[in-house]
Amino acid sequence: MELYLDLLKKVLTDLHRIEKGEYKPLTQSGLSWKQKFLVPFDKLLRRNNYSICKHIVPSIAARSAGIDWPASAETMIGLKRLDNIQFCIEQIVANGVKGDLIETGVWRGGAVIFMRAVLKAHHVTDRVVWAADSFEGLPKPDESRYVQDKGDTHHRYEILNVSLDEVKYNFKKYDLLDDQVKFIKGWFKDSLPGAPIKSLALLRLDGDMYESTMDALVNLYPKLSRGGYVIVDDFNTVKACRLAVEDFRTKQGIKDEIMPIDNESIYWKKS
Ligand SMILES: C[S@@+](CC[C@H](N)C(=O)[O-])C[C@H]1O[C@@H](n2cnc3c(N)ncnc32)[C@H](O)[C@@H]1O
Repeated sequence: MELYLDLLKKVLTDLHRIEKGEYKPLTQSGLSWKQKFLVPFDKLLRRNNYSICKHIVPSIAARSAGIDWPASAETMIGLKRLDNIQFCIEQIVANGVKGDLIETGVWRGGAVIFMRAVLKAHHVTDRVVWAADSFEGLPKPDESRYVQDKGDTHHRYEILNVSLDEVKYNFKKYDLLDDQVKFIKGWFKDSLPGAPIKSLALLRLDGDMYESTMDALVNLYPKLSRGGYVIVDDFNTVKACRLAVEDFRTKQGIKDEIMPIDNESIYWKKS
C-alpha cells in the first residue's frame, strides 16, 4: 500500500519525469497575454543581467514544494501537500471521524485522485470524494460581494480552465473513477449552498481568491466534523485567500492552531 501511494504521488506531480530529465514546466501556451509579453521581454533583460520575472528552475525541490506549475502533471501542489492529504485521511480513518472528503478547486484533479487512492488503499468504502470546481477556471472578481478581490487576475489564466471531461479522464487513467467520486460543477457561490453533502471529515480549499475561499468556508465548514481537517493551499501565497481565512476564523471564533505544511500551505484540526 505504501509503495502504491508513494508511486502515485511521484506520477501525479511529475516527479518521476524530473528524475528522468523529461519534466516540462508550463509553456507559453498556458500563460496569460501579459505573461506572454513579459517572458520574451525578460529574456532580453536577462542578457544584461536584469530581470522582472521570478525564475523557478525545475527541480525535485521545487516540484516537491509545489512552487511551479507543471505542463502535464495532474496536480500542481507538490509532494509535501500530497503527504499532508495522506496524513489527514489516515488520521480521520484511524480516529473514526465521520464524513466525506472534498477539494474546492481541483484543476486537473490530481489532489482528488490522490484522495480516492488513499481511501482505496485503506479499503474505505463508506466515504465519498467530492470534487468541486467551475471546470472553466476562476471567476472574474466581483467587488460588489468581496472588495478584497479587486484587481484579481486569476480568471485570465487559460491554463486554469480544465473541463469536467478532462478531470474524469484523469481519474480513469488511474482506474479510480467510480461511485465514491462525485463532482460539483459551478461557481462555488451557486453550487456549494445546495450541495448534497451530509458531513465532511476533510475540507481542502484551493480556489485562490477571497470569494472562492470564503464561499467554501461559509457553506462547508459547518458540515465539517470535530476532529476533521481544513487545508488551505494558498494561505501564504495569495493575500486575499489568507484574509478570507482570517476573517472567517475571527467571525466564528476559531482558535484551533494553524500548522504549516510547506511554505505556501497550512492546515488545522477542528476541535
Ligand atoms: C489552483 S487551481 C487548483 C489546483 C489543484 N487543487 C491541484 O491539485 O493542482 C484552482 C482551481 O479552482 C477553481 N476555482 C477557483 N475559484 C472558483 C470558484 N469560485 N468557483 C468554482 N471554481 C473555482 C478553478 O477552476 C481551478 O480549477
